[in-house]
Amino acid sequence: MSRLLVRDLAQLATPAGRDPPLRGAALGEVEVIEDAFLLCADGRIESVGRMRDLPALDGDVDEIDGRGRCAVPGLVDCHTHACFAGDRVEEFSLRAVGATYEELHAAGGGILSTVRATRAAGEEALRGAVERHRGWMRAHGTTTFEAKSGYGLDRDTELAQLRAVVAAGGVPTWLGAHAVPPEFDSADAYLDFALAEVLPEAAAIAEAADVFLERGAFDAAHARRYLEACAAAGLALRLHGDQFTEAGAIGLAVELGARSVDHLEATGPEGVAALAASDVVGVLLPASALFLGRPMPPARALVDAGAAVALATDFNPGSAFCESLPLVCSLACTQLRLAPAEALAACTVNAAHVLARSNRKGRLARGYDADVVLLAADDWRYLAYHLAGDVVDEVVVGGAVP
Ligand code: NIG
Ligand code: FE
Repeated sequence: MSRLLVRDLAQLATPAGRDPPLRGAALGEVEVIEDAFLLCADGRIESVGRMRDLPALDGDVDEIDGRGRCAVPGLVDCHTHACFAGDRVEEFSLRAVGATYEELHAAGGGILSTVRATRAAGEEALRGAVERHRGWMRAHGTTTFEAKSGYGLDRDTELAQLRAVVAAGGVPTWLGAHAVPPEFDSADAYLDFALAEVLPEAAAIAEAADVFLERGAFDAAHARRYLEACAAAGLALRLHGDQFTEAGAIGLAVELGARSVDHLEATGPEGVAALAASDVVGVLLPASALFLGRPMPPARALVDAGAAVALATDFNPGSAFCESLPLVCSLACTQLRLAPAEALAACTVNAAHVLARSNRKGRLARGYDADVVLLAADDWRYLAYHLAGDVVDEVVVGGAVP
């Protein structure tokens, strides 16, 4: 049995609520143990507690010195587009002086420019890209990540993207309805192809399906058609919705029992109420709103109304070239008016729920996977407090330092 003891921690902090997705007051409940230890055995957490209660341990135990540091659960990034080739630095420069994301998209740039680069890259290069991006994410404390396809939009590249995500240990989502590629003259003609030629094999690799429901991409009727076919093939459902306009994403997500609806920058009071009354998680992506200079989602209203929310980076080359969940936590506290405890739960236990992994990920408690972030601070709230700081000191994945 391999064992790892993290000892003499200034604090160990974990979301306290036990019934995810956490919402309301439970979202803000954090359990903090001062002068703490965390003991891992065979990749799982065996126990956590105060140092004074640490039992004598027989046999070999590797030790990590936690003095001056805090342990929080390994962060869970439940929304990324980490499998892509090329970059969009040219568009970034154009946007900096006034071009808009939607204008660039309508002119055949944006997502479609990454589609061209990703199609040309080949599977080996895509595997290398996801591994490189996983390294970036891990350096910021992410120990579990989801990543979407959606930059192939042809059969071979979509499947290669999904395999590359799996090869890097990510949770794969088939974003088969991200944009209409130029070889099709309508969304329906593209969906005819994607649902007949890609879905059967994508469903064998991916865990969920996702759609970009937005003007200039797919409308609610297209999204319904796509999602119903994906659900019938056994995939869980997610939606990109209310990013620029309210176009029916929340209603459709609730009706179809989706796991999440993500973005929500344009969501108004009725959408807030509908989401709060449902089991669908609202995934908030403040780095994307920041990067595009868009309004922030109505996070405080969602939480106060009782909605379950998660936080994610949306890491991608166009709308959020940002892999840092600690930065997202800072944005949550400074822009979304979430408390640090709510931000922590939103990018651990609730994000794990979106990925159907909340029984193993997102808490520091006996039986959970031994995925741990050690913060270079003696107060766990530095996770959000130190804006763009170098706050992640060390990461433990599955009971070992990778
Ligand atoms: O979540 N909005 C649609 N999809 C991504 C952006 C992808 C891209 O621009 O490459 C998003 O923002
Ligand atoms: Fe996205």
